[in-house]
Amino acid sequence: MARKLTGGPLVVASHNMGKIREINALIVPFGLEARSAGDLGLPEPEETGATFVENALIKARAAAEASGLPALADDSGLAVSALEGAPGVFSARWAGPEKDFTRAMEKINTLLTGSADRSACFACALALAWPDGHVETFEGRVDGMLVWPIRGKHGFGYDPIFQPEGHSITFGEMASEAKQAISHRARAFAKMVDACLKP
Ligand code: IMP
Repeated sequence: MARKLTGGPLVVASHNMGKIREINALIVPFGLEARSAGDLGLPEPEETGATFVENALIKARAAAEASGLPALADDSGLAVSALEGAPGVFSARWAGPEKDFTRAMEKINTLLTGSADRSACFACALALAWPDGHVETFEGRVDGMLVWPIRGKHGFGYDPIFQPEGHSITFGEMASEAKQAISHRARAFAKMVDACLKP
């Protein structure tokens, strides 16, 4: 049985206000209220994990220890089968400091030259950490294929190169509600809600 979150403040271990607002909307119905790591002046730990779960745990544990409150962190990215899971935890870093995802997608396509396998998945890990050291983790993924040329202007990051299984358009061509219905992030959150938020 997973430990329940029973109301009150929840630190969201992110400095991204968009992400914090989205998470707050999701947790408010359960009597929880998101506090941002940025507002609490918490430092951003280095993401040194080899997996999405490890990185989410690093961030959630650091925020719970520093604040004395339960903390939630996420980590996500694109894993390409023929590249042994790359860019994986380096998904943001492949775009460089200028966050040039067009270049990152070109790099993936070049590395796939001659490969018959264009399968990939987006994965998201969520970690909940309590100040007493207890943790719960959840993972969500969506499988698909990498297209070339890239298509679509919606979304962010690697969305225009990724066509989810069972669809003929990329995440970059999908309306945001349609992506939310099937995304790796939505699937991980649904698991957390079922296990830790629902009474
Ligand atoms: P983080 O989880 O905020 O560290 O994000 C990791 C990186 O993975 C992002 O910068 C994006 O490049 C990529 N990524 C994660 N989720 C998505 C998605 O839903 N669409 C496109 N790119 C994503």
